[in-house]
Amino acid sequence: MTTLKAQVLLDTNRTIAPISPLLFGGFAEHMGRCIYEGIYDPSSPLADECGFRTDVLQALRDQAYTLIRYPGGNFLSGYHWLDGVGPKHLRPRRRELAWQSIETNQFGTNEFIEFCSAIQAAPMLGVNMGTGDIQSASALVEYCNAPVGSYWSDLRASHGYREPHNVRYWCVGNEMDGPWQIGHLDAAAYGNKALEAAKMMKWQDPGIKTVLCGSSSDGMLTYPEWDRVALEIAWEHMDYLSMHYYAGNRNNDTSSYLASALAFERYVETLEGTLRYVKAKRRSKHDIFLSWDEWQVWYKGDPVQGNWTEAPHLAEETYNLEDALVVAQWLNVFLRKSHVLKIACVAQIVNVISWLQTRKDGLLKQPSYYVFKLVSNLARGSALDVAVKADAVETRQYGPAPALDVSASFDEERQKGAIFIVNRSPSDAVDAQLTWQDGKAVQVEEAWQLTGSDPKEANTWENPERLVAKSIAAPVVDGTGTTLRLPPLSFTVLTTRVK
Ligand code: AHR
Repeated sequence: MTTLKAQVLLDTNRTIAPISPLLFGGFAEHMGRCIYEGIYDPSSPLADECGFRTDVLQALRDQAYTLIRYPGGNFLSGYHWLDGVGPKHLRPRRRELAWQSIETNQFGTNEFIEFCSAIQAAPMLGVNMGTGDIQSASALVEYCNAPVGSYWSDLRASHGYREPHNVRYWCVGNEMDGPWQIGHLDAAAYGNKALEAAKMMKWQDPGIKTVLCGSSSDGMLTYPEWDRVALEIAWEHMDYLSMHYYAGNRNNDTSSYLASALAFERYVETLEGTLRYVKAKRRSKHDIFLSWDEWQVWYKGDPVQGNWTEAPHLAEETYNLEDALVVAQWLNVFLRKSHVLKIACVAQIVNVISWLQTRKDGLLKQPSYYVFKLVSNLARGSALDVAVKADAVETRQYGPAPALDVSASFDEERQKGAIFIVNRSPSDAVDAQLTWQDGKAVQVEEAWQLTGSDPKEANTWENPERLVAKSIAAPVVDGTGTTLRLPPLSFTVLTTRVK
């Protein structure tokens, strides 16, 4: 093992943008065991009076989610929201085509709203642009947000919810660029349909914010043309453009995988350019921001078809140390791109492609759970434009990549900051010199680290705390600088306070 060198230059005057709290969102889909057996399991001894798993609720609260996107995903494009409201014994049992599963509809819009309030997160609902029409999209907004006194709002009241739910964030469809999507459309057809849906939805409630489906990933052949075309049509009625991306170490090439932030950053930059282009072309004063409303590591190949069973085990990934370090870089990118990225939702919050796994008697927290929890609880105020000069790690896919991936936040009001550092080298420690260039005397209050010797290490039911974020000795700041040795394969968080 050699020791690499890095300089991390921080300046609280050199900011990028305020960090949107909605970057710490999650996604819950009617897929596999996310809703049933994950969030909702009335038969469990761990369930509360609403049927929600209390251990799951607590873990989600600890992760400080601000927003939850629901009900899909691919599920959305064949879903009729009316199936999921009203007396539970009257709700239909349906064959659900996206995941070839049986949907009992025992959990629907109102249960979702209750769930969001139990974890104090804002709801983000989707309207079906596959089999759904613009009328049913408009009716759902009325059902959720209109005061009583009209057909759909009175129906809500008759279901026990007199007060409007006031859902502010609305996805207009899901991954409509994908041939796998029920009712898939081309970009112009989707742009026109989304525009008309959003018009009606905003006439129902002018306070709502709408999300246009962007490309399903940067690997789509239609990317980024899809985004340009749909944006040009629907620009004035949309507030966000969605991005989706699932990362993975598909070639078992850890060095390249640990440089994933380079791909994430490029993806954001291309779409940022697309937004600027369309805004200029339309001579618009309106702005659209990015909503990365599906992101996660997903590649290990678990089944995704349920053979017409209820709550099948689908896409239940085991996450290891290298996956956790990719998640940490993703969150760093969110901060570094916080001028244009305003919403993000990890897909998904429990069981399906998730760092939380339930079984009847317990809950397993995988390493990336701890990464998200640290960042979502500590990144406050504005993102700082950190300058990093670091020795490089060679990667097959990206060439040389800086050994450190860093982001930082500073809360002017509280005079507190946080620094998030990934050492992406699989083999080498990094001696990092941190310097605060604004001349303010700072103190490191707390330090946390998640690390291990093997990138494939994971938590198991037998050894559930093998990889957790551990409190480590806070480095002492001498004047305006400090040094610390960052082990290979590590994620380190420092919280700071201006003295
Ligand atoms: O999150 C799982 C699936 O991935 C979603 O349903 C879909 O939008 C994406 O392809």
